[in-house]
Amino acid sequence: MPARQYIERLFGLAGRTCVITGGAGTLCGAIAEGFLKAGALVALWGHHMETLSVQKEHLVSLGASPDHIACFRADLTKEEDGKKALGATADTFGKPDILVNGVGGSSIRKPLVEADAAEFERTLVLNLTGGCFLPSKLFAAYWIENRIMGRILNIASMGSYNPLSGAWAYSAAKAGVVNQTMGYARELAPYGIRVNAIAPGFFLGKQNRHLLRKEDGTPTERGRNVLAHTPANRFGEPCELAGSAIFLCSNASGFVTGVTLPVDGGYLCHNI
Ligand SMILES: NC(=O)c1ccc[n+]([C@@H]2O[C@H](COP(=O)([O-])OP(=O)(O)OC[C@H]3O[C@@H](n4cnc5c(N)ncnc54)[C@H](O)[C@@H]3O)[C@@H](O)[C@H]2O)c1
Repeated sequence: MPARQYIERLFGLAGRTCVITGGAGTLCGAIAEGFLKAGALVALWGHHMETLSVQKEHLVSLGASPDHIACFRADLTKEEDGKKALGATADTFGKPDILVNGVGGSSIRKPLVEADAAEFERTLVLNLTGGCFLPSKLFAAYWIENRIMGRILNIASMGSYNPLSGAWAYSAAKAGVVNQTMGYARELAPYGIRVNAIAPGFFLGKQNRHLLRKEDGTPTERGRNVLAHTPANRFGEPCELAGSAIFLCSNASGFVTGVTLPVDGGYLCHNI
């Protein structure tokens, strides 16, 4: 078999339909670009149609076919919204078989004694309920009913392993994402459904850019601490997530389920 055909069989996503929640975001935009280049149809879900449309235009400007991308409005913290978006996606592209749970984030950093309980709960709901549990439940039920051997990709964080200072709820939620990834993987394996996650290190996204980098482009104190803790000594480029995401959602990882793959420039193996 020619090398190109072999690689396409392993990593290609032609014929697959992928839903990416939080699809207007920085990291999910880069994952969407990778999935489109690997041949998938991509449905971007998010709570603002305008930002989704901007993301679609951006992806088209990078060479994607407009027919391969569709946008659907859904607040992922609301179960009904997810159900409607799933129906609309299936009507447009056919039954989706990949889910990327990309909703999440928090830019709040506070000492424990100043942390606000309502804000804590909102962040848990966004990152764990909307960013993992509700869409996974929805797609698992749909795939079991339709006998589809789907793939879920969750997005964890460095905070999943060690709490990020001041990001109490975010770290707790992202630790939960790793935990749920293993639990869903175990329960859904008999149906041929695989569930994995990536744990990005520090990438300059919309929510954390100002925490890590000053207007003049130099790192903030927090940014300098992150770089000092990252053996690669740089922030990640969003496009560097695409390969790991494609691997975990393609045939190449057919016997891989329940894992969280760090994509972190060595952050987790840092030591003295
Ligand atoms: N940027 C980083 O360095 C980094 C590191 C580790 C993990 N992550 C995780 O990666 C994921 C994507 O991060 P990002 O930096 O691209 O984020 P982002 O803020 O750029 O994108 C998040 C998207 O989710 C959408 N969204 C928010 N709440 C929603 C809701 N209730 N329903 C539907 N859509 C909603 C937003 O509109 C936005 O488009 C998040 O889970 C984040 O926690 C990011």
